[in-house]
Amino acid sequence: MPLIKHPDLLIGLENSDDAGVYRLTDDIALIQTVDFFTPIVDDPFIFGQIAVVNAMSDIYAMGGKPLTAMNIMAFPIKKLPGEILKQILLGGIEKIREAGALLIGGHSVEDSEIKYGLSVTGIIHPSKIISNGGAKPGDKLILTKPLGTGIISTAIKAGMASEKAIEEIITSMCKLNDKAGNIMQEVRANACTDITGFGLIGHLLEVLKASKVGAIIYPERVPVFSEAVTCAERGLVPTGSHLNRNYYSSRVKVDTPISPFKLDILYDAQTSGGLLISLPEERAKFFIEKFKEGKIIGEIIPQPEGRILLH
Ligand code: CO
Ligand code: CO
Ligand code: CO
Repeated sequence: MPLIKHPDLLIGLENSDDAGVYRLTDDIALIQTVDFFTPIVDDPFIFGQIAVVNAMSDIYAMGGKPLTAMNIMAFPIKKLPGEILKQILLGGIEKIREAGALLIGGHSVEDSEIKYGLSVTGIIHPSKIISNGGAKPGDKLILTKPLGTGIISTAIKAGMASEKAIEEIITSMCKLNDKAGNIMQEVRANACTDITGFGLIGHLLEVLKASKVGAIIYPERVPVFSEAVTCAERGLVPTGSHLNRNYYSSRVKVDTPISPFKLDILYDAQTSGGLLISLPEERAKFFIEKFKEGKIIGEIIPQPEGRILLH
């Protein structure tokens, strides 16, 4: 994509950031993002909730607050009952309200497959943007939600996930990243992204490239859903996660004994994942004290740039 430069375009396409940011005045910048996907759970109301939480996440990952949202809906209206469509939208609106944002419009098209999501507009003070490019050597890396939603979703489709595993990932995917985002802003994080389709490794690599630093990750400290490893051992790994591994593994060095299944989880494509936050040690401790959840999973090192060491 050709890169666009403009004095008020504060965050554009250059660093694969979670959202674009445009300065309106000295005190206010707009944050804009869009996200939508096909159902990953059977319940349409829950699918609507997950799609909205996922879309809002890019605003929180920039350190901002969502203001307004627009629905994006593709639906096979001649093949499926309208009640399903209604339930998706109702699930969505519940989470839009919870986020304190307003639904102000949307667009729908007829399609062979259901797809739902949002475009979201948020605001932030121009000096408070938390981008991918601010990570500094010595920073700790915090992950706020466990990994494995892609693998467990695959197990659900195969009818091989337990009730407990299903409940765990649904609770996590339905949880807004608002609180984590607010605390991160309060304690002043250096960089942040949310973990979605490219997995922990893929999204961390975007931060490392933008910040011109490297990272050490301690795999045994990475929070993982309890059944994710068993599911990976049974080969229930989604295509997206295999693609992530093929694409990113040349930038990942492993110098610790690690099972190939745990590795699958580090590359696992997430839906509505947590925030990955880079911040100095003192502030990392303060973040965890305030947020109560979240784990320090690694740290930023100066070299080699754009690489991850699993140690
Ligand atoms: Co994102
Ligand atoms: Co996104
Ligand atoms: Co970011």
